[in-house]
Amino acid sequence: MSPTPIAFYPRKPDQLQDRFGRKLTYLRISVTDRCNMRCDYCRPAPDAYRAESHARILRYEEIERIVRVAVDLGVTKVRITGGEPLVRRDLPRLVERLADIPGITDLSMTTNATLLGKYAHDLASAGLGRVNISIDSLNALRFRRLTGGELASVLAGIEAAGSAGLFPIKLNTVLMRDINAGDKHSEVAELIDFASNNAATIRFIELMPMKQGMDWHQHYISIDEVLQRGDVRARVDVDAALETGNTAARYLPLRHGSGVVGFIMPMSARFCEGCNRLRLTADGGLRSCLPADHQLNLRDVIRSGGSDDDIRTLFLRSAMIKPEIGLYDFDADSKKRSMIHIGG
Ligand code: GTP
Ligand code: 5AD
Ligand code: SF4
Repeated sequence: MSPTPIAFYPRKPDQLQDRFGRKLTYLRISVTDRCNMRCDYCRPAPDAYRAESHARILRYEEIERIVRVAVDLGVTKVRITGGEPLVRRDLPRLVERLADIPGITDLSMTTNATLLGKYAHDLASAGLGRVNISIDSLNALRFRRLTGGELASVLAGIEAAGSAGLFPIKLNTVLMRDINAGDKHSEVAELIDFASNNAATIRFIELMPMKQGMDWHQHYISIDEVLQRGDVRARVDVDAALETGNTAARYLPLRHGSGVVGFIMPMSARFCEGCNRLRLTADGGLRSCLPADHQLNLRDVIRSGGSDDDIRTLFLRSAMIKPEIGLYDFDADSKKRSMIHIGG
């Protein structure tokens, strides 16, 4: 039997890899740019931003189609974000569609948890694996001032996530000097205790200059400074080796018990070297780097009758323009760069 000519072998699917050899296996999907809270560091001033109209937002079947192509290109980890993803109608229906796609090994959501009390069980039944929950203060008054939301609904949401089995639960706290960190009002130790008492892993995030209006210089505090505090050192083994990998967070062990505390340091210790992320905005923009402004428009490709191969081509192009390092421009404040639009 003569050997099969090369051209007859099925073509190995291209895998998403950038110019620096990083494999892009993690897709973060923002399903809405609306939110039921208004965190100071995230939401642009009302005159600077208007939510997209429903017609411009990707439909669930469009998202599913895009994700199927992404998975074919090697994506294994998918996170649903927002805005607040749970303000979008029937979100469990999207989860169900995505959970059905073979090849996704980690399907998760980042949420402010205010609506988890209502949806946690439906989400778990639909196939969601786990949730990351934002919580910046355990003081109800401060929480309301900062976010416009009710702490009690977030606490109820965390509990609901636990009872629905959405494990592991991670809590995200953005550190802000004079608000929840620094000499005045530090809540870091209290938040660490809260997480351990609730079987959750907390991650502290350095404030990124994503939005004008909030004075980044005034409120930014480095993880390094936070780790100097006595009440933090009493809880966290700061001498242990930082656990790293291609996740944004690095982890240190707690001194008591078996838990860890995470630190996300986009400002003081970039993690771009191991970055495996691509982002899809609610209106179909494909972004290969959080702070970089360039994005490619998948919605137009789909709505002008583009094929799966066209979607594929856009993914490969996006991977090719991913910068080696994401740089923050402290002066410009483009609408494209607001967190509510990109989804964190
Ligand atoms: P895990 O898979 O649970 O580790 O989640 P994650 O950390 O990837 O997701 P999450 O939405 O909880 O991210 C927490 C925050 O970390 C984000 O909202 C951002 O603020 C920050 N972050 C995550 N990925 C990146 C990134 O690629 N670049 C930068 N600069 N920040 C990021
Ligand atoms: N800096 C750091 N983290 C931010 N997030 C939103 N805006 C910022 C910012 N400017 C975080 C939220 C949430 C995640 C989606 O993004 O706390 O956990
Ligand atoms: Fe990845 Fe850009 Fe974030 Fe760096 S800044 S970790 S390259 S998304």
